[in-house]
Amino acid sequence: MSDQRTERRVVIAGPVHPALTSRLQESCTLRVWDDAKHAIPHATLMEWLQDADAFVPHGGIQVDGSLLAKAPRLRVIAQSAVGYDNVDVKACKAKGVPFANTPGVLVNATADLTFALVLLVMRRLVEAVDHVRSGRFAHGEAMPYGHDLALKTLGIIGMGDIGSAVAKRALASDMHVMYHNRSRRMGDQQLGAVYGTLSEVLAQSDCIVVLTPLTEHTRGLFGAAQFAQMKRSAFFVNAARGQVVDTAALVAVLQEGVIAGAALDVTDPEPLPAEHPLLHMKNVIVTPHIGSATHETREAMALLTADNILRGLDGLPLLTEVFM
Ligand code: GLV
Repeated sequence: MSDQRTERRVVIAGPVHPALTSRLQESCTLRVWDDAKHAIPHATLMEWLQDADAFVPHGGIQVDGSLLAKAPRLRVIAQSAVGYDNVDVKACKAKGVPFANTPGVLVNATADLTFALVLLVMRRLVEAVDHVRSGRFAHGEAMPYGHDLALKTLGIIGMGDIGSAVAKRALASDMHVMYHNRSRRMGDQQLGAVYGTLSEVLAQSDCIVVLTPLTEHTRGLFGAAQFAQMKRSAFFVNAARGQVVDTAALVAVLQEGVIAGAALDVTDPEPLPAEHPLLHMKNVIVTPHIGSATHETREAMALLTADNILRGLDGLPLLTEVFM
């Protein structure tokens, strides 16, 4: 056992669900950075990676050619997230290091959170809770109305597995669903979602939901010109990555009433500083990047990540390898 462990050094670059470390420590030697308040210093990471056989990064760490060059023994990289905009998968491939993410297991949790944001912002639920907590309800003050979801159009930008799961939830609320992807999704008709160009979806939707991965094509996809194509009564929900949106443009369109409101699980920067205007607008809701943050889903992500690491160390195909 001790021999096997010395051949299986795993670097975990941030706090993780305990299921990940429990499964790995049965057969691996772990180095874990578990300080949630401070990111692992670059020099420490580089030192740890020198003799690492496997690596579990997180979204704040850029995994690129220069990092890989400092990690000569790496045989596998696996990250507990579906997004991998921080990972240069081509560079991993060039080095012969397979990389895996955690698709699938987080679909329902992320779709629930995303659709909850649609409900929160359209029905003004955060304001409603505040209305009660602040005593205004008890004093007989009227709470302003929200909007029906039924018969409204939800526009999904980035219709993958999570988008489809959000579409099902919207259809169950009697919404119409439109979507835009770079290419049309197979089975969209059975699902009940109508494909459109980005402009068509923006113009016809009462609430836009962004679920696209962050890539060179989607960075800054939402700026003043895109918001201007939306209805003035429409809401904007982002559960993808903050950098898909030009934050200054979003602030301006909200201040000028170009759109009606926003709900954001992701922001740029993330977190937003306490004085940021988005945190002080009544018609904006910000949650702390919790799409997959449930006990069950985070445990499933941790176990999938551990299994990918163990398979990579054994030279087996990963369960959810990202292929370019
Ligand atoms: C969360 O943002 C993820 O990519 O899983």
